[in-house]
Amino acid sequence: MPTGRRSRLHKVFVTRDLPGDGLRRLRDEAGVDLWPGGMPPPRAALLEGVRDADGLLCLLTDTVDAALLDHAQRLRVVSTMAAGYDNIDVGAATAHNVLVTNTPGVLTETTADLTFALLLAAARRLPESERAIRDGRWTTWSPAFLLGRDIHGATLGIVGLGEIGQAVARRARGFGMRILYTSRTPKPEVERKLGCSPVTFDELLAQSDFVTVHVPLTPQTRHMFDAKAFDRMKQTAIFVNTSRGAVVVEADLQRALASESIAAAAIDVAETEPVAKDDPLLRLSNLLVTPHIGSASVATRARMADMAVDNLLAALDGRQPPNCVNPQVWAARPMSSDGSTA
Ligand code: GLV
Repeated sequence: MPTGRRSRLHKVFVTRDLPGDGLRRLRDEAGVDLWPGGMPPPRAALLEGVRDADGLLCLLTDTVDAALLDHAQRLRVVSTMAAGYDNIDVGAATAHNVLVTNTPGVLTETTADLTFALLLAAARRLPESERAIRDGRWTTWSPAFLLGRDIHGATLGIVGLGEIGQAVARRARGFGMRILYTSRTPKPEVERKLGCSPVTFDELLAQSDFVTVHVPLTPQTRHMFDAKAFDRMKQTAIFVNTSRGAVVVEADLQRALASESIAAAAIDVAETEPVAKDDPLLRLSNLLVTPHIGSASVATRARMADMAVDNLLAALDGRQPPNCVNPQVWAARPMSSDGSTA
């Protein structure tokens, strides 16, 4: 039920249909304008959608920038159904007093599962093996056919030991791997608990058999995997990325794979998504690529949608959203004379 503070039915623009029953709950509480179909709204439709909206529920495919915020005079909250929010100019939102919320935590284990699936698949050359059978190239058991790399006993380098990095480390322990990590902040307790050793970025690149990335995309992490980084990696190394495509200079990754200066890569993300059918990356047999499905399990996507709706409704209802990335907007909100929020 709408609370007393909701003086009119708030208007919310939702940029895609959502899994689970979050949208039904949202419709009970707000006037929902849902962008139809399976593709993101084009820019003009997004601008039109937010023009007189109080809330925006968006996905990582929607760009929320200063121009959009200028245009959305009534907007109070942008709720993204994702942990990463690099598609949103949070500084501009803060300047416009617009709350930005995300869905961290619920996708941690699911994303770590996919990271490990990619690592295992690349190490044991599963896509090539499958193609070999379908192409009729499985003629006999052969001592040197499709040899891959062992995971047990190998060294895993985790770049970014946040929640997802730690969940990957837990899996790696079960596989008997040695674990190195780099992180913005030292994590001595996690180190002890998960048996991870801190190293410099260069040491991690030089020593790891597998390098996996779990950093948010920021100006500091953008393009951190460039030609220099790939050159430092072992020739037998496998690179895994389930974070954001733009942490990698894709042309440099392509060169490293084509020249076999690293053995293979498995990526769930690309700088430009979707990857075009004729992208040169797709010609590489030592690259495994999936279409940004890190959090794509039935249960997790429903939880993310629920969380995005909860964040949005809290903000519209004048309650502090549970997952706010710019809490200074909340702290600075105007108070009415009875001490409640406007
Ligand atoms: C997915 O990439 C997310 O950030 O939730």
